[in-house]
Amino acid sequence: MISEKLMSELNEQLKHELFSSNLYLAMAAYCAEEDLMGFANFFRVQAEEERFHAMKFFDYIIEMNGRARIPAIDEPKNNFASILDAFRQAYTHEQFVTKRIYHLTDLAMEEREHATISFLKWFVDEQVEEESMFNGLVKKLERIADNPNALYMLDGELAQRTFTPPSDAKQA
Ligand code: FEO
Repeated sequence: MISEKLMSELNEQLKHELFSSNLYLAMAAYCAEEDLMGFANFFRVQAEEERFHAMKFFDYIIEMNGRARIPAIDEPKNNFASILDAFRQAYTHEQFVTKRIYHLTDLAMEEREHATISFLKWFVDEQVEEESMFNGLVKKLERIADNPNALYMLDGELAQRTFTPPSDAKQA
């Protein structure tokens, strides 16, 4: 049985994942305005991933006999100084999300809520990938800062990214 406190924190995470989705959509719009459609595609796919994360929390809350509450979502930042600035902010945001997942896991462990610990494990692993991906792109962008050719090459690479939900993951 999940405590009210833990259930409310799971619902709070649903909000953070929906916010993340909107934040990356805002970054996609910024990149499109800069005519970097590969970067825009990258963030658009990331927005879909975040929606998928949100739906995992939504489903889990219901599965555990809770009541998912759909929250108001704050407006994300819509303007960025540069592509690098957007990626730096995305990386910082992912570090925040990792802290949130750790906080949830600590709470579930305190309550010996084994099902929730197991559910959150997927997110612990996912955050390792997300932080590593954004950190890697920040480093790449720092290196190619003044090289438009390299920027367009990376844009072409990121145009290939597609969203594929993990086959073992439950979707709504
Ligand atoms: Fe759902 Fe990027 O964390």
